Amino acid sequence: LPALAAILGAAYLIGSIPFGLLITRAFGLGDVRKIGSGNIGTTNVLRTGSKKAAALTLLLDGGKGAVAVAVAYGMYGNLAAQIAALGAFLGHLYPVWLRFKGGKGVATFLGVMLALHWPAGLLACATWLASAVLFRMSSLAALIAAAMVPVWLWLTRAEPFIWLSLCLAALIFVKHHANIRRIATGTEPRIGKS
Ligand code: G3P
Repeated sequence: LPALAAILGAAYLIGSIPFGLLITRAFGLGDVRKIGSGNIGTTNVLRTGSKKAAALTLLLDGGKGAVAVAVAYGMYGNLAAQIAALGAFLGHLYPVWLRFKGGKGVATFLGVMLALHWPAGLLACATWLASAVLFRMSSLAALIAAAMVPVWLWLTRAEPFIWLSLCLAALIFVKHHANIRRIATGTEPRIGKS
């Protein structure tokens, strides 16, 4: 049990590194929390106009989740991997460094899913991409992808991860409440139109 608590804590700390904020600062793009939606994620980093900064944010926000899961799995196996996934995800959403005001979790969710069970992770990425092409809204694509992951896990015979995926997907919906309202009222910005 102490080992699992340590994994949860360590993963939380890794997940709470706000890469979107650090990268936009390093690129001299100002404070990403003061533009667009105010979010620190890839979509809002893209609104600074720097595709390079956005790509790097996606890679590192996803990568921190994947690394936390892979390390925990290598050290202690399956249960530890799931706890690391939860920790890294919560760290991204509620980072202590930003007074618990973190991101919406999409990249980190995809990263932990890829590391937990890559077939379902790849299907999740494909779902995001297909939905983004179809609807041109990053948030809607994320909501569809999150909602579909439990189905992909079931279809790819990875039932043990379904409960975790439902928890993470639910938190993604909670974090997108403002986006959901804008989608419903037809005012959510389209990808590429800031
Ligand atoms: O990944 C976050 C995305 O789903 C929505 O971001 O900045 O448009 O609220 P944003």
